[in-house]
Amino acid sequence: MMKRKKLPTISVVGLGKLGTPFLVTVASRGYQVIGVDLNPNTIQNLNDGKSNSVESKLALLLKQYHARIRATASFAEAILNSELTFIIVPTPSTSNGSFSPKHVAAALKNIGQVLRQKSQPHVIAIVSTLSPGSLAQVLAPILEKSSGKKIGKNFGLCYNPSFIALGNVINNLLKPDFVLIGESDQKSGDILEKFYRRVCLNQPPIKRMQPINAEITKIALNTFITTKISFANMLAQLCERVPGADSLEVTQALGLDSRIGSKYLLGSVPYGGPCFPRDNRALRAFGKKNRMTLGLPRETDVINQSQIAAIARLVEISTPPKNKIGVIGLAYKPETDVVDESVGINLANYLAHKKCAVSVYDPLALENARRILDPRIAYATSLTALVNSCKTLIVTTAWLMIKYELPKLLTKNNRRSIIIIDCWRIFDHADLPNHVTYIGRGQYIRA
Ligand SMILES: NC(=O)c1ccc[n+]([C@@H]2O[C@H](COP(=O)([O-])OP(=O)(O)OC[C@H]3O[C@@H](n4cnc5c(N)ncnc54)[C@H](O)[C@@H]3O)[C@@H](O)[C@H]2O)c1
Repeated sequence: MMKRKKLPTISVVGLGKLGTPFLVTVASRGYQVIGVDLNPNTIQNLNDGKSNSVESKLALLLKQYHARIRATASFAEAILNSELTFIIVPTPSTSNGSFSPKHVAAALKNIGQVLRQKSQPHVIAIVSTLSPGSLAQVLAPILEKSSGKKIGKNFGLCYNPSFIALGNVINNLLKPDFVLIGESDQKSGDILEKFYRRVCLNQPPIKRMQPINAEITKIALNTFITTKISFANMLAQLCERVPGADSLEVTQALGLDSRIGSKYLLGSVPYGGPCFPRDNRALRAFGKKNRMTLGLPRETDVINQSQIAAIARLVEISTPPKNKIGVIGLAYKPETDVVDESVGINLANYLAHKKCAVSVYDPLALENARRILDPRIAYATSLTALVNSCKTLIVTTAWLMIKYELPKLLTKNNRRSIIIIDCWRIFDHADLPNHVTYIGRGQYIRA
């Protein structure tokens, strides 16, 4: 019988919101994995089988594949015992909108020092989001200096961003639309391609290219999506002022055209989270660096910034001044507790600043939200408590539980009139009880 070739061991540097699910997904596909982080609690948690972030399926897979996973603070332990390393450390935005590569550089310096002593080949793939040009101009020289070796000869350095949405990271990693590889040399690209052919369940297209093109592709892709979102939000704002108009009907029709497609084409809330706003700004910064003003991402951002006031306008028109306003949803999207650039938080703060009485609820993100919410804002510990205390309710995050629970609670609580502002159009007006006044984002509202 032919003996099956042993899979290479994989290491993952940076065990945060993306790194931990990445490592666990790889373990679930049969690999031994070693995680490296600077934070001792993160390492301890992972070694104890506990997840460091809230992510769908993460706790379950971690429990199931715990025997294949170990975490350490030692770069030497991880690099000497693995063949392929993924770097997934933060790349914070700088004041000009570009991404700082300082944490990636620090990790590469540590890796390079270990590679000095390693004679076997090794491939490093940077998953962290980079500004175009960073790999060749900043990071490759750091790695070559610290290792004393030449990239492409003794080891490879690739750019390999993941296209994932928090809350759905594991599914997105297992079944990506495509895999993007910016490779220093063909052999390293081959190794990464082979890895993804084994990890992915859906045989995705794998696009291999020069690192600079992969760096541009990553932020261009997200900027294209943000443009689509702002376009739909612009239509929503317009339709809200036109008697009889409804942007939902317009965008549903537009989405049927195969040149356009229906994804991300719903007039709803401004985009937020840790990626979309930053990637949009990073493309502008890259344009500026190349002496070009990129008007499209700038306007996309301007439209995005105007959406909080546009949603607040729906409140102002519909709501008597004494109504307490309940904001439902503080996470920037469902199935996560992440609150970066969250519409629920920005809207609640905006309304509190306008002296409205505001209460908030979220199934997961209440604790994270506390740090950035205006102190005048009240917290509801349950959806029932929010419905009982507020006469105007705004749905800012399309949690599935809200879609199913809220109509039931409104039917029970039928003693007073309630206004619902449905930013995500998750409710059908006809399914809500008669005492509810329904306002859908993008529908005409008389001022
Ligand atoms: N979170 C997302 O939705 C998402 C999506 C696509 C891309 N990204 C990109 O992935 C990267 C990581 O994002 P994240 O959200 O997972 O970050 P995070 O802040 O959640 O986690 C980063 C982890 O890296 C560790 N770390 C920092 N410096 C280190 C070093 N020198 N060595 C070892 N560990 C180090 C931190 O302790 C932390 O555990 C960023 O570049 C981000 O832009 C994130």
